[in-house]
Amino acid sequence: MTTRKFTLTEVSTGKTSSLDALSPSVGSDVLNIAPLAKDHGVYTFDPGFMATAACESKITYIDGDQGVLLYRGYPVEQLAAKSSFLEVSYLLIYGELPAPAQLDEFRRNITRHTMLNESLLRFYNGFHYDAHPMAQVSAVVASMAGFYHESLDIHNPRHREIFAHRIIAKMPTISAAAYKHMLGQPFVYPQNDLDYCANLLNMFFAVPCEHYQVDPVAAKALDLLLILHADHEQNASTSTVRLAGSTGTNPYAAMASGIAALWGPSHGGANEAVLQMLEEIGTADAIPKFLAKVKDKNETTKLMGFGHRVYKNFDPRAKIIRETCHQVLANLGRVDNPLFELALKLEHIALNDEYFVSRKLYPNVDFYSGIIYSALGIPRSMFTVMFAIARTAGWVAHWQEMISDPAMKIGRPRQLYTGPTARDYVDIEAR
Ligand code: ACO
Repeated sequence: MTTRKFTLTEVSTGKTSSLDALSPSVGSDVLNIAPLAKDHGVYTFDPGFMATAACESKITYIDGDQGVLLYRGYPVEQLAAKSSFLEVSYLLIYGELPAPAQLDEFRRNITRHTMLNESLLRFYNGFHYDAHPMAQVSAVVASMAGFYHESLDIHNPRHREIFAHRIIAKMPTISAAAYKHMLGQPFVYPQNDLDYCANLLNMFFAVPCEHYQVDPVAAKALDLLLILHADHEQNASTSTVRLAGSTGTNPYAAMASGIAALWGPSHGGANEAVLQMLEEIGTADAIPKFLAKVKDKNETTKLMGFGHRVYKNFDPRAKIIRETCHQVLANLGRVDNPLFELALKLEHIALNDEYFVSRKLYPNVDFYSGIIYSALGIPRSMFTVMFAIARTAGWVAHWQEMISDPAMKIGRPRQLYTGPTARDYVDIEAR
């Protein structure tokens, strides 16, 4: 797969090394810098992984300049229009679109694993009612390692497959339990005659004293959001899952680390922060003042839902969500949505402002997702949890890919040390 060769010359010694560029199936070549440490005793320095490929992967491809996102080669636009979240999960994990019988079997497997061990349900009582649901969900997922540890051999492909089914199946149940705990309402058990998203909505919104009918429009809108959030190659949370998983840790523990990484406002927490920001701005006439604050170097305020490490043109997921936002709001009978109108105006003004244009800052997936979530009745604090449910499919696919790679190595970055050089301990009396 090698196509290009580079020669690195150490000027002071004249010593040279030949470095191979590895060719991907599509996208930029990647320089294999392994000989640098061996031949020259130097490491590369790349804070934030701005220019470093940490692994080889066959799952997701992004072209940030062209706004392209492919899951296993399929454009996200086509999957959003024609597929379902469970089919996309199958695609991400197994690498191919399922035949009808394979999809049926996958659905059955997921459905069979939706229930939680009753003692796991009691974990929630340890949380105060207003504990953030991401704290609850990451803790409960981590504690699943305690239920499935001895029986889970990460080197056994069948065990890995059962893990994949279990975690995708249980994430809605775990998330809904956190929501019900916040509300002080009784937990609603999963209902296996409902599909994935309808069951999720039912567990969120049903109460024992009333009949609850899932709105198919809401279930479809949710399914679309889950597809769009299902994977995004080596983002911060997926890289966290890979790094944790590379130690051979229990995969539920690795997933919990991914959930924790996703929570931050620079990553999955942005959807929650966007709504907070829109509510704070309040009305369109306050936009210029808000943007002046964002552009002020002495302020830390950011335009949440804008900017992306990889997309420097547009985020295709944001485009789909913005287009469907109108439709979803209309179908749900919520045409007049002041926050959506405000978001549209804010986007328009920012996209015509030199600050954002020169830095190639565009709306990302989370600029509009919170507006749909809130139209579905999902509270702001649950937005990042919804993201976690979706991204679980990607995390599982990446974890599986990594663990089943015979060349897998523990993830262990190097550093540029700038601390003190060796010095002698000084006895406390002498300090
Ligand atoms: N608002 C204002 N300025 C911004 C924003 C923003 N949202 N994003 C980037 N910038 C500015 C930076 O201040 C920097 O300006 P400078 O060159 O004058 O110093 C420049 O644009 C480049 O930004 P970086 O921070 O270097 O870009 P990076 O790739 O490291 O960060 C990130 C990407 C974290 C997504 C950033 O754009 C951001 O914080 N956005 C807001 C949070 C957000 O929406 N996160 C969700 C990302 S998508 C996801 O994870 C699902």
